Amino acid sequence: MSSSSSSICRPANFHFPASSRGNYTSVFVRLPVGTKERSFATQFVKNKARPDLGRVQSRRMLGLITAASGQAAVSAEGKPELLIFETEEELSDSLAEYAAELSKKFARERGAFSVVVSGGSLIKSLRKLAASSYVESIDWSKWHVFWVDERVVPKDHSDSNYKLANDQFLSKVPIPPGQIYAINDTLSAEGAADDYEARLKQLVQRDILVMGSTGFPKFDLMLLGMGPDGHVASLFPGHPLVEENSRWVAFIKESPKPPPERITFTFPVINSSSNIALVATGAGKAGPVGGAFGAGSTTDRLPIQMISPVDGKLAWFADKAAASML
Ligand code: 6PG
Repeated sequence: MSSSSSSICRPANFHFPASSRGNYTSVFVRLPVGTKERSFATQFVKNKARPDLGRVQSRRMLGLITAASGQAAVSAEGKPELLIFETEEELSDSLAEYAAELSKKFARERGAFSVVVSGGSLIKSLRKLAASSYVESIDWSKWHVFWVDERVVPKDHSDSNYKLANDQFLSKVPIPPGQIYAINDTLSAEGAADDYEARLKQLVQRDILVMGSTGFPKFDLMLLGMGPDGHVASLFPGHPLVEENSRWVAFIKESPKPPPERITFTFPVINSSSNIALVATGAGKAGPVGGAFGAGSTTDRLPIQMISPVDGKLAWFADKAAASML
């Protein structure tokens, strides 16, 4: 295998559209299934191309792309990374490893780890964190868990993002219950957004959350899914909330994705994060992933293209199906 900082290697069955090929700089590491090549490529990722990526490399990662400026959102600390995996299973292994490493780092550095989750299929992809090795090795007492968006329904309702995360992940790991910040489900959408924002402000006062240089809270890690229409959180294409730049938490009463009433973090909060992982699995996400990395037609900017950490890192975790339009 030959790779260099200016060449692109493609695994079998993986194609860049000719139009986008020139938009990528540096690395695309070939990681097909063969053990030998796999370990060689792992070595490459770890020691040469991106020493800092050692923690997120997967034994079976298909490839890694860093996008050039002007394509997908570019963070101040560098270019976003797109990690492509053969299967969702392998993606979820790597996502767990990535979150565990960040947990260790922030617990050590500041004695707390603030984690934000979305709803949707992301939660299933977090399942490996509830596997015994991580249940034992992660210091869950440092975790503080928030929702990037929540449906305004009771916490035991089948539409509740809290219920989804609790059933599939949070109930399986020993995070102190007082450090899981569900919305107040007795309030209206407006009231719940105000209440959640006020609680975030109190947590900044208590140094559980860090205030960013932007004037918005700086979460340690945001784990975000995305919709097939390119929405993130409850920030939908064409909706005025995508332009909201003063509120921390806003409400929406006419979400195009049911249920209609939700609260959501705004882009300034999302973009203040230290680390953002955008997780995309399945062919239904191929359009927005392709759009974010410059493939296909460029019409209106999608919400996922507005993710651009001010002083943080952005990593995309995609399976092969979600990366199929690159
Ligand atoms: C919600 C979610 C939402 C979700 C995306 C992707 O409450 O609806 O938080 O933002 O992350 O819609 O969902 P899927 O991965 O299930 O498509």
